[in-house]
Amino acid sequence: MNPKYLQMCNRVFGDKVLQSGVCLGKRIGLFEAMQSKNKPWDIATLAKETHVKEPYLRELIHSYVSSGLLDIKDSKVFVPDWKVFNEVFVSRDLKYVSQFQEVAPILEKCFTEKGPSGYGHDEAPYVMEYILSLRAFYNNSIAEELSEKVIKVHAKKHADVLDLGCGSGDLTIPFAKALNASKVHGCDFSENAITSAKIASFSVPNLDFSKQDIHKLPEDWTEKFDVILLYDVLHDLQFPGKAMEQVMRVLKKGGIVIIVDPKVSSNPSENIGNMLAAQALTFSTWWCIPSSSCNHGSGHGVGWGWQNKEKFLTGIPGLEIKSRVCLIKSDYNFAYICKKK
Ligand SMILES: C[S@@+](CC[C@H](N)C(=O)[O-])C[C@H]1O[C@@H](n2cnc3c(N)ncnc32)[C@H](O)[C@@H]1O
Repeated sequence: MNPKYLQMCNRVFGDKVLQSGVCLGKRIGLFEAMQSKNKPWDIATLAKETHVKEPYLRELIHSYVSSGLLDIKDSKVFVPDWKVFNEVFVSRDLKYVSQFQEVAPILEKCFTEKGPSGYGHDEAPYVMEYILSLRAFYNNSIAEELSEKVIKVHAKKHADVLDLGCGSGDLTIPFAKALNASKVHGCDFSENAITSAKIASFSVPNLDFSKQDIHKLPEDWTEKFDVILLYDVLHDLQFPGKAMEQVMRVLKKGGIVIIVDPKVSSNPSENIGNMLAAQALTFSTWWCIPSSSCNHGSGHGVGWGWQNKEKFLTGIPGLEIKSRVCLIKSDYNFAYICKKK
């Protein structure tokens, strides 16, 4: 038995988020298929042989590679020691995080070739609420840092600010309080999220919300905003190219876009041993892949990776990346400060 691998498997088993990821792999028959032909697998072949959609499988496998559960060589993945793996994960009962349980049957169907393409907040409210609740303690400091170090430095005092994909307003509300000389608008395509945001913000005078799809923003918003924020949204989008065209249209000339997104590498080998990446990729399998796959969209998720995102942003006509910073001692995100030329 490989003692280092045993230690790592037990670590994964002891982490309820990572355990949910393994539980999912077990439920969709992934490990059985891998063990039946004990060889290194490339993900496309594995997806074909197990009849699952590649973007879903890719994200799940990347989470396993990051935690060390699977090894990777020449882009092929394998279990380093099946005896250990079976002892820790096959002979024991695995559970989903309780907030994931309700959506688990839908996600399992999304994995299948003929299943639904994805789902959003209104079909799976507890998943996003759970993921965002883990950040709740930091929301005020994130909003303050964004307003003090980014917006007040780059934009005028009475700015029109748009928070795109604002969810339930967890950041938009403290953000509007910190930017009390500005007018802040939050929008999201989830009806439920916008209803919650409106209720939670009733006493904040410089803030309002509306339900909008980022791919089709109102015509009368053209060149309306000085600052646009996409916090943890870009990789969740179905059609990011189309979305950024809308962002560029509604942004004033000289205005800034702040894009905050996970700092996970596009290259799975570079995430090995990074437990934060393993967790982010597991969450992404539950949330970002279904969200970005809706209506047969991009299916990007967190595994799209910062290098690919940077390339994508660099290719947007009229947009210039001014800087890339890490916020709040966070090793988890990159914030891109971009300007419309
Ligand atoms: C991970 S959440 C982030 C929420 C919020 N920015 C925060 O950090 O608290 C991503 C959000 O993007 C929204 N979203 C995804 N696709 C969208 C679209 N096409 N139009 C508008 N919002 C969208 C989702 O509904 C969800 O609320």
